[in-house]
Amino acid sequence: MSSVVVAGSFNVDHVWRCDALPAPGATIAGRYTTGPGGKGFNQAVAACRAGADTTFLCALGDDAGGAMARGLARQDGFALVAETSSEPTGTGGIYVDGHGRNTIVIGPGANAALSTAFIESQRALISGAKVLLAQLESPVETIEAALAIAREAGVVTVLNAAPANAPSSIGLLKLADVLTPNETEFVALLGRHVGERVEADDVATLDGARLHALCRELCGNTVVVTLGSVGVFVSHAEEKLRGDTQPYYRVAAEAVHVVDTTGAGDAFNGALVASLAQAPEAAFARHVRFANQYAARSTEKEGAAVSMPKMTPADA
Ligand code: RIB
Repeated sequence: MSSVVVAGSFNVDHVWRCDALPAPGATIAGRYTTGPGGKGFNQAVAACRAGADTTFLCALGDDAGGAMARGLARQDGFALVAETSSEPTGTGGIYVDGHGRNTIVIGPGANAALSTAFIESQRALISGAKVLLAQLESPVETIEAALAIAREAGVVTVLNAAPANAPSSIGLLKLADVLTPNETEFVALLGRHVGERVEADDVATLDGARLHALCRELCGNTVVVTLGSVGVFVSHAEEKLRGDTQPYYRVAAEAVHVVDTTGAGDAFNGALVASLAQAPEAAFARHVRFANQYAARSTEKEGAAVSMPKMTPADA
């Protein structure tokens, strides 16, 4: 039985590195590379490299991209259980600028065909895990089914509500013990579910009590807002502090030389669940500090899945 199950997407990423992101109508030259990505796969790689026994549930095309995913999972040492789709394996087109910032367009392909029936067929695996981690690059009803199975079995559920434009419902958010949006995803959720309009650029500088109150309005469970170069904000329900002493707090970002932020959020999520699975009794702040360090290290290297460091909570 795996201690971490990740349900989500795999993409073949096509990346162009350029000094500045192209403006609408512009044609510019960039340095091209390709490699494995997809929020789900990146998070599974991170969980595995952070020391957790990991299984990744996904949908792949019967093509070279699918073969790449299976081969890389084998090489990294985690289990990959895939539903085979007649659609091509998912793709991502990524521009990265000279500051390591990115813009991404995905072609969902097979990821859009990840079915609830397939997830249901993996009920025993999900129910036997310590933590289930999911994102929203797969059909929302499928992710909801995975979270519901985990919740029913008492497995800790973590939902990375990414990307920001993915559909979601209050019912879905309630199935997450821990919700981990970045600032853009957080304001999208606030707008959609709370009717609060906040600018993404303003989230990091909001007063802690105000940010905590917004998190509480959004979701009854723990909310971790990742804030890029500013760090992380954690908000717990008063009655469920998860071993912490305060209902809300910030963790500052690590000082690193940033080369590429692609997959940094995925690094955070994979490392967070790996730490949670390995030391379920430890204070939540310890898991967040580890995930924060892990994510920072991932930005020092180019690429998405390939940038995940081999670093466990014991090494941190
Ligand atoms: O989070 C980064 C990932 O988003 C990329 O690997 C890309 O494939 C998209 O899924």
